[in-house]
Amino acid sequence: MTDEPTTYQITTRVTAEYDPEVRAGLEHDAKEIIARYPKPRSALLPMLHLVQSVDGHITQAGIDFCAELLGITSAQVTGVATFYTQYKHRPVGEYHVGVCINTLCAVMGGDQIWRELSEHVGVGHDEATPDGTVSLERIECNAACDFAPVMTVNWEFYDNMTPEKARALVDDLRSGKQVLPSRGPDSLCTWKEASRVLAGFPDGRAHEGVQAGPESLRGLALAKERGWTAPPVDADREQPHEPVKPGEVSDPPPNEPGKPIGGEVKPGTQEGRNQ
Ligand code: FES
Repeated sequence: MTDEPTTYQITTRVTAEYDPEVRAGLEHDAKEIIARYPKPRSALLPMLHLVQSVDGHITQAGIDFCAELLGITSAQVTGVATFYTQYKHRPVGEYHVGVCINTLCAVMGGDQIWRELSEHVGVGHDEATPDGTVSLERIECNAACDFAPVMTVNWEFYDNMTPEKARALVDDLRSGKQVLPSRGPDSLCTWKEASRVLAGFPDGRAHEGVQAGPESLRGLALAKERGWTAPPVDADREQPHEPVKPGEVSDPPPNEPGKPIGGEVKPGTQEGRNQ
């Protein structure tokens, strides 16, 4: 114990900023995104993809930029950016490689692919190679179980994989060789280009290549063979409500420090979400 008074160092976080040219481009695109929504804050998810398309991952500059343009706090942006796994908080490779280790892919060999690929490349989950060409991620179900075990590169599918095919895929990517996805577009874009598409700026390739493979269409083929049809629409069934119009959307009440979010809203109810 000492009688010396304790001293605390108070640090203030400095707002991170883009250089003027980058910022001008981001602002131009951000305004286009924000204009798609009735309320600016609704544009946060594509805005995060937009800053990721410039920085490669979510940086403090990107968080502060989103907060400023959407009129929310950096803490609110951070809360969303850390919730969704598509937003990365560490540098990502030019080719971000996912290995599905969810149940069906795992039993079909996904776990083994992950183990062998991670060892082969020398990086773990959400880590990039030192040359920045490739990063790896263990991913959960990609809704492509009919092609298990499945891998993705920049969210394009590579179906029916094996450890050998996985190693060859990553080796080819690292040597600059173009490796076509099993389905979808006729070429593979970079991580930043894919992030820009997710921000809502199409690259015109959405209709290229095979969309649904024979495995996904097997049920339809069987139904056709056997003459099965969908039951008729029940005309008496209650129709869904009219969609909410932009003018009817209201701002949530402000959160008051020290009070539960959502005011009187009961925990576990749907009310008060998105506040
Ligand atoms: S479990 Fe891998 S795509 Fe569904």
